Amino acid sequence: MTTRILTGITTTGTPHLGNYAGAIRPAVDASRAANVDSFYFLADYHALIKCDDPLRIQRSRLEIAATWLACGLDPERVTFYRQSDIPEIPELTWLLTCVAGKGLLNRAHAYKASVDKNLAAGEDADAGVTMGLFSYPVLMAADILMFNAHKVPVGRDQIQHVEMARDIGQRFNHLFGNGRALFELPEAVIEESVATLPGLDGRKMSKSYDNTIPLFGTSKQLKDAVARIVTDSRLPGEPKDADSSHLFTLYQAFAGTAQSAAFRAELEEGLGWGEAKQRLTALLEAELGEAREHYHTLIARPDDLEDILLAGAAKARRIATPFLAELREAVGLRSFRGALQSAAAGKKKAAKGARLVSFRDEDGGFRFRLLDAEGQQLLLSEAFADGRSAGAASKRLQTGELDLRIEGVQLVAYLDDQPVARSAVLEEACAAEALIEAVSTALLPRD
Ligand code: TRP
Repeated sequence: MTTRILTGITTTGTPHLGNYAGAIRPAVDASRAANVDSFYFLADYHALIKCDDPLRIQRSRLEIAATWLACGLDPERVTFYRQSDIPEIPELTWLLTCVAGKGLLNRAHAYKASVDKNLAAGEDADAGVTMGLFSYPVLMAADILMFNAHKVPVGRDQIQHVEMARDIGQRFNHLFGNGRALFELPEAVIEESVATLPGLDGRKMSKSYDNTIPLFGTSKQLKDAVARIVTDSRLPGEPKDADSSHLFTLYQAFAGTAQSAAFRAELEEGLGWGEAKQRLTALLEAELGEAREHYHTLIARPDDLEDILLAGAAKARRIATPFLAELREAVGLRSFRGALQSAAAGKKKAAKGARLVSFRDEDGGFRFRLLDAEGQQLLLSEAFADGRSAGAASKRLQTGELDLRIEGVQLVAYLDDQPVARSAVLEEACAAEALIEAVSTALLPRD
């Protein structure tokens, strides 16, 4: 079975070396595995929640798209798109918003953190909190559920959001699935083995600490950043302790085992920090040089990037468009056309062709009959507790999910292994064949 893997990349900022080692490199590797169908997208609607500077949004989407492609993501193999090119996503967001509990969203970490900060500052709890921030997890649930992702690789801070997507999906299934799972329930995947890189000062590499090494800066920018890595004050010739040096940790994230061991030995033998930094720069050049060139070629051709992303969006929408149509149907946003037909069929006895007619029986049960063109009853349904279930069952019979069985003296129609409708008692066994034929024809999908 193929596993569907999906993850979003929020398009704020410019990717740095920590993003590369922690997210981009492992994701590109994973996308090459057999039996996976991967979806990677630029979460640019999410970016709008955090950023109201249009130029930064524009720049960051372009840079991040180019970065992922330059690092080897193959848009032929995976589905790579911008969230904002898929109008089905905001539409699904609304359907999910209508079932997501407000209480559930009140518990989201990001929202709670804002509230706590406000309260600590003596402000109103919701000061500066937008509905975008509050509903962030619902939009993310739509991203995930839209493509029925099984696995969602994320950082630890996002686990809660994936769990909320599960909760919301489950609730939707329960309300509208008629016993069927409309949505696959996703699972967060945390890559334990992936490197968390230290930044120049030894704390986690992060834009907010201003300690990053740019991923695709110029050679000079790379060299200058490496020169700023903080080391101890041991002089050349003095033995260095590799394990307490984050320069070594950085080196290790990009070198093979043997190469790392050799570097460690050199440090212990007294290699100077200046030299050590040159080794690290050379290593990073070797790992990233080619991708950097590719990156700059891509950035210089935004029209080509646009084409790649629009093709990705078209690919994604081949899944999203029909699936959303199914979901709209499930919640009752249905075309009037079919409804008019069945209303007319119910009123006019002489209507042509076979038809399904629903009614309530004496006990208040919801039932339907399948009548042939002459108005003869072919099948009578079981009693359903509500009109919606009865409607759903008759609809499914008409869409070809038909399982007819001859049981003793009756013809019985099944759905999901449950009997849903039966014929009158057959006078003679040979009548069964003719009846099966009549029922099957009567249930042929109509347009
Ligand atoms: N919120 C995620 C982050 O900040 C990005 C994201 C948006 C995402 N939609 C997603 C990740 C769907 C996984 C699946 O990292």
